[in-house]
Amino acid sequence: MADKPLEQMGLRDLRGIMRQQAPVEAWKHFNGAAETKSTFHRNPRAFQQYLFRQKIFHDVSEPDLSIELFGKTLPIPAITAPVGSFSLIAEHAEEEVADGTDRAGAMMLVSQASHLSLREWRGTRSAPLVFMAYMNRGKPEVEEYAKTAEDLGFAAVGITMDTVKPVKIGDEVPLSTKDGKPRKGHKSTPKDIEWMKQLVKLPVVVKGIMGADDARVAVDSGADAVIVSNHGGRILDFNRSALEALPEVVDAVGAKVPVLLDSGIRSGGDIVKAMALGAKAVLTGRPVAWGVGAFGARGVARVYDIFAEEMQRVLVMTGVARARDVTKNILIRDDWGRKS
Ligand SMILES: Cc1cc2nc3c(=O)[nH]c(=O)nc-3n(C[C@H](O)[C@H](O)[C@H](O)COP(=O)(O)O)c2cc1C
Repeated sequence: MADKPLEQMGLRDLRGIMRQQAPVEAWKHFNGAAETKSTFHRNPRAFQQYLFRQKIFHDVSEPDLSIELFGKTLPIPAITAPVGSFSLIAEHAEEEVADGTDRAGAMMLVSQASHLSLREWRGTRSAPLVFMAYMNRGKPEVEEYAKTAEDLGFAAVGITMDTVKPVKIGDEVPLSTKDGKPRKGHKSTPKDIEWMKQLVKLPVVVKGIMGADDARVAVDSGADAVIVSNHGGRILDFNRSALEALPEVVDAVGAKVPVLLDSGIRSGGDIVKAMALGAKAVLTGRPVAWGVGAFGARGVARVYDIFAEEMQRVLVMTGVARARDVTKNILIRDDWGRKS
């Protein structure tokens, strides 16, 4: 594998190299998920339910992948997900993730559980950043972070609201990688969204929405965007996949706010499928971890190149000139084996 140049590697190569190189505990943590891992496995499988409708008679040869989000133009509709424990992979993994994302010009969501300060995440980088709070860290700390994010020119702030119960790796609740203390679940309320709205002038994003009712509550409380996510299968075993929850969230609030999605994105084709079903953009967690674990910042930048190359291929082969215009007309539900 390693004798292949990085430019020819795919995500599976990066995953394999990360697995060999990263500390065993880091691999287990990133490849782990709650209990039987049914949600973790269902997330990527859900994308396989959709096939593309190939179309070759058209003029599309170099599709435009860019989108607008929070007033920023992004070259690709993929975003680095907030991950509090990149530093398990390597001492400087957080800096490398920031550098690699920056090299791709992509947006990055920064977790309050991560080790670097917001100032360090910003550094001299120009990639648009979004601060993602955990309300269990207490309002004073969240307030300080949110205001710092605003001062540093972050594009938005947000709250991760689905850790009502703590994440699990198999049957264990791992210790916090930030302070080494046992993790606890915590309930955030719609009032926290209202509180965040009056705290800063930035758009407020709510992460961890898995249904229409919660989406409406979040938007009625002031959310400027929602992220459909089951936390990569780390909290509730036998949850629906994020992709399955996406259409009802788009129906409920998609006309009012951008709907983003994460959990299970493993290719540029998956990004196109999520967008065809109404997502404005996607977040990617574990693929970024594979990239940084395999080749540091270069590996992270390669993850974005892979996504872009794969998106280009799908959009050319389905005749879509601009990713942001993709509709579900390019998708066919795979009913193979279900017809009698
Ligand atoms: C090791 C690990 C740590 C994570 N830490 C956070 C975090 O601190 N805050 C947060 O909002 N989400 C966190 N997440 C969830 C990700 O933001 C994202 O929802 C998930 O990784 C998406 O699924 P994917 O890994 O299949 O792309 C974490 C995920 C992993 C795998």
